[in-house]
Amino acid sequence: MSALRIDVLTLFPKMFESPFAESIVARARAAGQVELVVHDIREWATDRHRVVDDAPYGGGAGMVLKPEPLTRAIRATRGETGHVALMSAQGALFDHAAARRLAAVPHLVIVCGHYEGIDERVIEKDVDEELSIGDFVLTGGELAAMVVIDAVTRLVPGVIEGESLEHESHTEGLLEGPQYTRPVEHEGRRVPAVLLSGDHAAITRWRRGEAIRRTAERRPELLDRASLTPAERARLPRQPARPRASDADLAAAYRSGVGSYRIAARFGVSPATVRTRLRALGVRLRPPRGAQRGPSVAEVTRMRATGLTVRELAKHFGVSHVTILDRLKRAKKDGAAR
Ligand SMILES: C[S@@+](CC[C@H](N)C(=O)[O-])C[C@H]1O[C@@H](n2cnc3c(N)ncnc32)[C@H](O)[C@@H]1O
Repeated sequence: MSALRIDVLTLFPKMFESPFAESIVARARAAGQVELVVHDIREWATDRHRVVDDAPYGGGAGMVLKPEPLTRAIRATRGETGHVALMSAQGALFDHAAARRLAAVPHLVIVCGHYEGIDERVIEKDVDEELSIGDFVLTGGELAAMVVIDAVTRLVPGVIEGESLEHESHTEGLLEGPQYTRPVEHEGRRVPAVLLSGDHAAITRWRRGEAIRRTAERRPELLDRASLTPAERARLPRQPARPRASDADLAAAYRSGVGSYRIAARFGVSPATVRTRLRALGVRLRPPRGAQRGPSVAEVTRMRATGLTVRELAKHFGVSHVTILDRLKRAKKDGAAR
């Protein structure tokens, strides 16, 4: 059995043929490490013309994917274990942590929207998370799904040599430093001398320093979460203070129906901070999404075994870190009782 099965639901299955017939994803498929199955959502339309879209209620431009065929498609492909991710310009930003998290699930179902998007009721009932590949709007979810599949596949154990992944950009919350190959001199520019020195400890130190310097220059916001030693952190250049989200912004976002996890991601604070500040503002809190269901002890234990942190698990299951800690505690107790 492959380590990861991916089912893609799309209106344009042919788009997936060529990108995944090449390179690493093709090799992972051939080696049986990843199983990729692309389905046409129209297979689940029941009328003669296989209609899958309709005009939006309330009027307005474009069409919306109808709930019935898509619901049938998701339920037929997800089975018992499938984790359903909808590609959406409104989703949480897909990043390295999300790729790592998804590489650890056994079965992923990726839904590609099109036209104006999909009926909200499908999202509420049958979608586990929405993922965006950036703050822009694509014509459809297919290209976004391909990005996700590529990034996730290379993190499936065994697909790429562990060493190649170790110091890559984003792996440790840092960008990778510069890379050089032969010749030693190109148009008057020489390769840094340390890389030619043969002194591996010095090369490792230099690469680490360059990664930190480059991240500080290009993506300083990544440094908040990067794994740095206290000494490395102390040497960082000073960052200008990030503007704090106003109370009015937080309350307005929450009252408009956005959940505390999404608000937290948007304003760069923790979900617990959002809820504490909302409470202090007298805003009535809704029960967190998924609170009634929550992940089982077994689900959390299985995902934890892949090395995900409590914070990553909380994000994956859409619950608070307290819920995750509770499941881990219960798993420990169950283990002790046996
Ligand atoms: C034209 S877009 C719909 C945009 C939608 N009306 C909105 O304003 O959010 C059609 C489909 O493309 C996909 N899509 C668009 N932008 C995306 C992005 N940045 N990341 C992931 N998927 C995206 C989604 O599946 C979406 O349903």
